[in-house]
Amino acid sequence: GEELRQLVASRLRAIPDFPEPGVVFKDFTPLLRDPAASRAVVADVVRRRAGAVDVVVGIEARGFILGSVMAHALGVGFVPVRKAGKLPGETHRVSYSLEYGEAVIEMHQDALQPGDRVLVVDDVLATGGTAAACCQLVEACGATVAGVEVVLELAFLHGRDHLPGYDVVSLLVDE
Ligand code: PRP
Ligand code: HPA
Repeated sequence: GEELRQLVASRLRAIPDFPEPGVVFKDFTPLLRDPAASRAVVADVVRRRAGAVDVVVGIEARGFILGSVMAHALGVGFVPVRKAGKLPGETHRVSYSLEYGEAVIEMHQDALQPGDRVLVVDDVLATGGTAAACCQLVEACGATVAGVEVVLELAFLHGRDHLPGYDVVSLLVDE
């Protein structure tokens, strides 16, 4: 509820002009440093998703931190989606556009089975390119995206527009 949102908002630090001039970067490290606040974030996701997901997929790098504790709390396994060239096995790859240039992310082909209900986890939904590419990887395995959970949605970047039809839940929204 509102109490949780205020707690989490108080644990995000706004850093102007990072990584480049004009961007106000929301830094999650204070949230991770506070066990009560990070536990509350995980409990909120568990309340929403318990029993409805078979696996958590986390996006490098901050989605690993949040996603792995959520997987543990949900009692399901964790699958990493990584930047290109990091995973050793056979992968599915998706390229997507960033503000400048392109990025490629990968997931192991055998990480998910058809029918798996997958929760995609990341810290921030910005332009939505990363989360949308992650959903494509899940579906390339024949698995189903049960939902997307992020702590913060930067709504002014319209990331939801890249995720039509998906159950996208953000704890906090910056308008
Ligand atoms: C950030 C963030 C999301 C992504 C959101 O990661 O953690 O994964 O950007 O942006 P988008 O919605 O515009 O795609 P970043 O690319 O900075 O990688 P990092 O976590 O490895 O630092
Ligand atoms: N914080 C964290 N990650 C991000 C941000 C931000 O403000 N913008 C894009 N990715």
